[in-house]
Amino acid sequence: MLSPATSADVSALLGVYARVGPLFVAGDGSELIAEDGTRYLDFVAGIAVNALGYNSAVIRDAVVRALDSGLIHVSNLYRTEPGERLAAELTRSFSGQAFFCNSGAEANEGAFKFARKWSKKTDIVAFAGSFHGRLFASLAATDRPDYRRPFEPLLAGVQIIPLGDRAAAERAITRDRTAAVIIEPVQGEGGVRPVAAEFLAFLRQRCNEAGAALIFDEVQCGLGRTGTFFASEHSGVVPDICTLAKPLGGGLPMGAILVSDAIAASLAPGDHATTFGGGPFVATVALEVVRTIADPDFLAEVRAKGELLGSRLGAMMRGRVKQARGRGLMWGLELNDVAAPIVAAARERHLLVLTAGPNVIRIVPPLTISRDDIERGATILAEVLN
Ligand SMILES: Cc1ncc(COP(=O)(O)O)c(C=O)c1O
Repeated sequence: MLSPATSADVSALLGVYARVGPLFVAGDGSELIAEDGTRYLDFVAGIAVNALGYNSAVIRDAVVRALDSGLIHVSNLYRTEPGERLAAELTRSFSGQAFFCNSGAEANEGAFKFARKWSKKTDIVAFAGSFHGRLFASLAATDRPDYRRPFEPLLAGVQIIPLGDRAAAERAITRDRTAAVIIEPVQGEGGVRPVAAEFLAFLRQRCNEAGAALIFDEVQCGLGRTGTFFASEHSGVVPDICTLAKPLGGGLPMGAILVSDAIAASLAPGDHATTFGGGPFVATVALEVVRTIADPDFLAEVRAKGELLGSRLGAMMRGRVKQARGRGLMWGLELNDVAAPIVAAARERHLLVLTAGPNVIRIVPPLTISRDDIERGATILAEVLN
C-alpha cells in the first residue's frame, strides 16, 4: 500500500499553503501514514472532512458501486438517481429542497444568491469570528481582514457585527436592505465557539420581522460533528437555508445548499447552476456518508466520545490553557499565548492538531475515532502543553 513517492516535489504547487510535516502516502482509521511508515494520529481529519476516517469500508464500497455504474459525471441537464436519492435523504431532516455544488464557499455564494432572489433585497449581515469561504461574497462575509484586504473590492453591502450583540443585530438587520443573515452555529476557524441558542433564536425572530433569510453555515459544524445531524439541533432553531460541505462527499469535493420551500419557490430554471454539482459518482458516496452519520446510534456514539474528549480537554485548563470549549467532536483549547508552536510540537510527537485563529488549538478527529485513540491523543496533547 505504501507507494514510494520519491519524485514528489512541492515547488510546482502554487505557494498559497504553508505546508508542513512529512509526505503522507496512506491512511488507516484515524491515522495518516508517512512515507517512512510513521503513523500520525489525526485530530484534524482533513479539517473536519474525513468523518468516517481513512480507508473506510463504507466509502470504499460506495466508490466501487459508483464506478460499477459506469457513470462518473452526467450533466445536470438530465436526471440521475444518486443525486435525487441524496436530496430526498437530506430533506428528511430539513424541510425543503437541495442544490448540490462542490465546496463550502460555493455553497455560501449560492445561498446569498438564493436569499437575494427570494427577499428582493441585497445586503448581508455576518458576525465577528466568522469564516464562510474565500470567494468574493463568502470572503466579504468572513471576519479575517488580512484575507480580505489584498482582494478588495469584494461584494458590497456586507456588514460584520459583534457576535451575540442583540442591539447591533437590531440595527444591522433591516426590513429595507437585509437579504440574509449568515452564522455558523458553532464557529470553526474563528476559534471553535458554540453560539448561544438564545442568540440564534433571537436572529430567527429578527429575520422573520425583517423578511431576511437566516442562513446557517454548517459546512464545518454540520453532519454529525457536534453529535447531532445538524449543529443547529442543539438550539432548536430552524434556518431558511443551511449550507453543508466538508464531510458530505466522504472526502470527494461536494457541497449542498438546503433551502426552505418558500425560498425554493422563488427560484426557477436558469437562476443558478454548476457543471459538476451532485453528479452520480459523488452523490453515491455522499448518500452512504449521510446515511451512516444520520443513524441515531452513530450520533449517540459521537456524543459519548465527545464527552470523553471534552472531559480530557477540560482537565487541561490550567497553566497556559485558558479555556476548553466545544461540542461533540469539535473542540478548541484557547491558550494564553500563540498556538502554532504547540501544533508543531504535537506533530513532532506524531499527533496532528490545527489552529483556529492565533491562540486556539482545534481538535476535529474522524467521527469514527476510537475511545483509545481519543485517550492516546489527549495524553500526547497534555504532555506537549506541559
Ligand atoms: C464554516 C465554513 N464555511 C465555509 C468554508 C469554506 O469551505 P471550502 O473550503 O470548502 O470552500 C469553511 C472552510 O473551512 C468553513 O469552515
